[in-house]
Amino acid sequence: MAAADTSPNAGAPEGTVRPLHVAIVMDGNGRWAKQRGLPRPLGHRAGVEALRRTVSAAPGLGIGWLTVFGFSTENWSRPAAEVAELMALPKRYFESDLGRLEREGVRVRVIGRREGLSKELVRLVENAQARTAHNSRFNLNIAFNYGAQGDITDAARRFAEDVAAGRRRPEDLDEALFGSFLATADAPPPDLIVRPSGEQRLSNFLLWEAAYAELVFQDVLWPDYGEEHLRAALAEFAGRDRRYGAIVADDVLAAG
Ligand code: IPE
Ligand code: MG
Repeated sequence: MAAADTSPNAGAPEGTVRPLHVAIVMDGNGRWAKQRGLPRPLGHRAGVEALRRTVSAAPGLGIGWLTVFGFSTENWSRPAAEVAELMALPKRYFESDLGRLEREGVRVRVIGRREGLSKELVRLVENAQARTAHNSRFNLNIAFNYGAQGDITDAARRFAEDVAAGRRRPEDLDEALFGSFLATADAPPPDLIVRPSGEQRLSNFLLWEAAYAELVFQDVLWPDYGEEHLRAALAEFAGRDRRYGAIVADDVLAAG
């Protein structure tokens, strides 16, 4: 398959701006199941279908990077049966989708702590990453056993270890160097962070990386999510005025 043009405006109608990197807090699986009188695991399984639809739609919409929040370090506090169900989702997803992801040029990475994951799960994750490492058409980051505060803390610890070992000096540290210690080091910062299900929080997702991300909250439960919702989020993004703390040229004149 030919490499997609993943520049921010690839495929966008003239005058609209597309995000290069979209991040999604996949939320609402439990409520989706409850509304249907189903057990929560069926909501999580339907959430995997939504992930499949969203990953399929994203490259055609000019998106080059998609980071999804699958399991947070805080989700360990859920009942054991629920944790076990969530832990089984990567296997379910990779068993059905890894071959296609590999063929379609998707580079898969799982970001988050490996400690706490079963040996089998770590093996599955390493296998998915290795099998797709050569791909560059589209990047899928799955945050699993991830929490931004933990990731920032781990980054600070690694930098401190480098200083203690004489490899770095404290004055070497700036934002770019610090960012290189994070789990997201090789991804551009997210332009757009989407949270479905009506909740309006980041919940410890990409706190450092979110500095200038646009936030879009959508009233749809994750298992119902698909291309039309992603398109709606992109349309809302296109209407935003991103100034990165600066002011626009006309206002510079007015300010003078
Ligand atoms: C998202 O759905 C799945 C994960 C958090 C891993 P939830 O399980 O949070 O669903 P709700 O919020 O209870 O509806
Ligand atoms: Mg939730």
